[in-house]
Amino acid sequence: MFSVIYKLQHCQFHLSDSNELLIDAYLAVRDNVDELIELLSSYQNTLEEFERVRAWDRDDEYSKRSRTQKASRLIYLNKTCYNGLFRVNDKGEFNVPFGKYNSPTICDEANLRACSQALQGVQIEVLEFDQVLTRIGRDDFVYLDPPYEPISVTSSFNSYTTRKFDEVDQTRLFKFCQRLTSKRARFLLSNSSAAWLRLLYEKESKFTVGRVKARRSINSDGKGRGEINEILVRNYR
Ligand SMILES: C[S@@+](CC[C@H](N)C(=O)[O-])C[C@H]1O[C@@H](n2cnc3c(N)ncnc32)[C@H](O)[C@@H]1O
Repeated sequence: MFSVIYKLQHCQFHLSDSNELLIDAYLAVRDNVDELIELLSSYQNTLEEFERVRAWDRDDEYSKRSRTQKASRLIYLNKTCYNGLFRVNDKGEFNVPFGKYNSPTICDEANLRACSQALQGVQIEVLEFDQVLTRIGRDDFVYLDPPYEPISVTSSFNSYTTRKFDEVDQTRLFKFCQRLTSKRARFLLSNSSAAWLRLLYEKESKFTVGRVKARRSINSDGKGRGEINEILVRNYR
């Protein structure tokens, strides 16, 4: 995504997601990269530190922490937790265990600065995907990267928020893609190759469904890691 933004600097970009933590992290990278780097440089890769930082969201004081502090926590946990997973429990508390990696790069300063540079001028907001519809017009391009529909019960791992993205949401997203098409906007959507979902998109004559192999290191089930089949759906040639 960042390299696309770099290459198309004449375009206006909007980024949105319903996960406030993720959006706060993008905003901190865009607006407070020096402070973010300083905070990230102070964390240790130890079980004690990991448990202390992970427990922030069990504390009443958490809501008073700054956006940059919350972003540093998210990045730190992502780099040091088991397999880089993001998962929360029913109370919205991050619950992935310590990853026990030898020397994870907790603070990749050059990369953070490059991402910050790329995000300058990008509009970044917490939004449900269907709230974006009224802002999209003819010739806009929309990339959709939703929670992947589980292929099997054991591969189900889409708890990015306390609310699961279920079959009703996937169907709502399919209808959203039809509305984008009516508005003459172009879209590209990635998802798993779950059979019912692939058939749903394949039966819409205005859509083209391609299959690709993608490398995935994020899966709670070790057998689900490595190369997996995904679909790429688009409404343009
Ligand atoms: C496969 S991840 C994509 C991650 C993202 N591209 C990133 O920058 O890390 C799926 C994303 O969909 C988001 N999501 C889930 N339900 C949503 C909804 N109803 N509207 C908008 N975003 C949603 C999740 O918060 C999660 O970040």
